[in-house]
Formats: sequence, structure tokens, C-alpha cells
Amino acid sequence: MPNNRSSNQQSSAGSFSLPNFVVSELRSSLLSWYVESGRSLPWRNTRDPYAIWVSEIMLQQTQVKTVIPYFERWMRQFPSIKSFANADLQTVLKAWEGLGYYARARNFHRAAQQVLQDYEGQFPTDLETVLKLPGIGRTTAGGILSAAFNQPLAILDGNVKRVLARLIALDVPPSRSMSQLWELSETLIDPENGRDFNQALMDLGATVCTPKNPACLICPWRSHCEAYNRGVQAELPMSETRAPIPHKVIGVAVIWNEGKVLIDRRKAEGLLGGLWEFPGGKVEPGETIEHCIKREIQEELGIEIEVGEHLITVDHTYTHFRVSLNVHHCQHISGEPQAIECDEIRWVTIDELSAFPFPRANIKIIEALRK
Ligand code: ADE
Repeated sequence: MPNNRSSNQQSSAGSFSLPNFVVSELRSSLLSWYVESGRSLPWRNTRDPYAIWVSEIMLQQTQVKTVIPYFERWMRQFPSIKSFANADLQTVLKAWEGLGYYARARNFHRAAQQVLQDYEGQFPTDLETVLKLPGIGRTTAGGILSAAFNQPLAILDGNVKRVLARLIALDVPPSRSMSQLWELSETLIDPENGRDFNQALMDLGATVCTPKNPACLICPWRSHCEAYNRGVQAELPMSETRAPIPHKVIGVAVIWNEGKVLIDRRKAEGLLGGLWEFPGGKVEPGETIEHCIKREIQEELGIEIEVGEHLITVDHTYTHFRVSLNVHHCQHISGEPQAIECDEIRWVTIDELSAFPFPRANIKIIEALRK
């Protein structure tokens, strides 16, 4: 029996549905809000899919305010897919230095080389092809194709998940309801205005529907927001329960010889692959830092050192673990260093260190050496 929820009057999204007039109001109120209150960001002044691609990769795990100067520098250094694809990986990693999650830079570089080879340097315009490129998942693909070509493709990044979870008062953590959230994002996107709709949705999440103290009173979606209507916006989205992350204690050597120090390049694959570091390794249970450093340097580089005074301890949190780098000055005693567990080793002066890409935690060691 037809009623006011019959299929020609509602858009369904998973296990819930929104009447079509609500979808229309959500679209138009969000787009009007965006005209007044959207952020002015450098990658929004272009339709160049490459520039938008750069921004989307950088924004995958890094905040907008950090990304802006990197984006601007990057576009000056690598203004086209061709110039980027032809750059060597060390130069690319150096330009990425400080952004973290270096697999992003390595995948992006491989993807640019594929676009240059397979599509004559033209970024593909269909979703299926784009999704085959390394480092591009559904949100990034939707973000690029909507922003560059106004395609009505849904996105679901962290901010959008929070906005949509509140809109429907989702009663499970977002990761347990991904297909429903994707469907909702697809239902809501304005078919005529994919570009502005997605940008607006991200801005709403970043500036109004914030994790803490959301500004519901100025939200264009307030009247349709189930969390607001139930007064539970502060409790949503439900938190993802996470296991505590492991803590690794590492002994690190700054090995001196004739005014130079020894650095090594990590193997290309794996975490922080291809980046340079000061050599060292994990402290075994019951082992002193000094003993660990001496042992690791013997195992990894085949040389004997004397471990001297403590330089600095650097605490750093990566996604899946936390490290404490216990750094000591060391003196080279004997043996020719060999690249046993790394790809390359070099003796360099302190002034030369800035030419090599290092992980964030190692940069603090360089600063301490300069002091
Ligand atoms: N995060 C991912 N893409 C973004 C964009 N285009 N603007 C702001 N934040 C973003």
C-alpha cells in the first residue's frame, strides 16, 4: 500500500531511508552554506587533476594547515605529472620530508609513472581506471574526479564519516557500518554539483561538525540531524575500540670518524623504506642501551664501535607503534662498514645531512647535533 515512504518519494541508503525532499533540502542547504562559509584552499583554484591529486594524497593523513605550504612548494618543484614522474625517488622523498607516511610518496611516484606511460601523462577520467593506480582508494578517487571533472562520485574520509554518522545517529562505530555510510554518501551527493557538494561536506566536517564541541547552532543540516535532534551529537560517532599500540625502545648510534658521521639508507620496502637514518636497532629484554647499540652496529654494519655519551632521547608515535630512540655518540674503532641490512651507507659531515631525506624522529637527532 503506498504511503509517504513509497519508493518514488524516498532515497534508500542501506537499512534506513531519507525522503527525497529531505535529500533535496540537505543538498541545497549545504551548497548555500558552502558559498558563504567554505574555505578558500589553494587546490580549489584549479581544475588540473594532477594538482588536485597532489592535494588529495597529501591530505590522506595530514591536516590542511600542514599541507598548504607543502602543496605550494610541490607544485613549483613538480608542476606536471611528467616532471614528477621523471624525478628520482630520493628527490621526491626529500620534497615529502616531514609529511610522514612515506609509502604515500612512493606509491604516488609509481602511479605518476604509470599515468605517463599508459595514458600519455593524462590523468584518467573513469573511476575504475583511477582505482587501479597505486595509493588511490575510493575516497581519493572520488575526491579527485569530483573536484577536477565535477563527477558525482561519493567520498568518505574521516570528517565525512563523522558528519554522516551524526546525521543518522549511527549506533555503531563507523568502521562497522561502512557500506551503509558509503550508500548514504552516494544518496546525498548532488548529481549536478559533485565538486562543490564534496568540498562542502569536507568543510562542514572540518569547521562545524567537529569531533569536540560541534557548532550545531550554525549547522545547515541541524534540522535534519538525528544526533542533534536526540541531543547525542557529543557522543557520536561511537568510538572505535583500539588495542594499545606497542612501544619499541631503540638504541641509535651517531658514529664519528674524522669529523664525519655514518648514515644508512633503509631498504626500499617496508615502513619508512628508502629513507636515511642513523643506524641502530631494538633493545632486547634485559639489555642495556649501550650493549644494544654495540651489538646492532656489529650485526648491521660489521664494524666495531665504542659507545660514548648520551646525545638525546626522541619519543615519536607512528600509526601502529611508538618508538623511543636512545641516541649516543659513538666512535668508530675498526672494520669497513658494509650494507648488510640496509641499501647504502655513507660518511657525511653534519652540514651535508640536510641533503638526505630522514624520517621525522631522526630530524630531531640532526637538530641536536647542530646545537
Ligand atoms: N581532505 C581531503 N580532500 C580535501 C579537500 N579537497 N579539501 C579539504 N580537505 C580535504
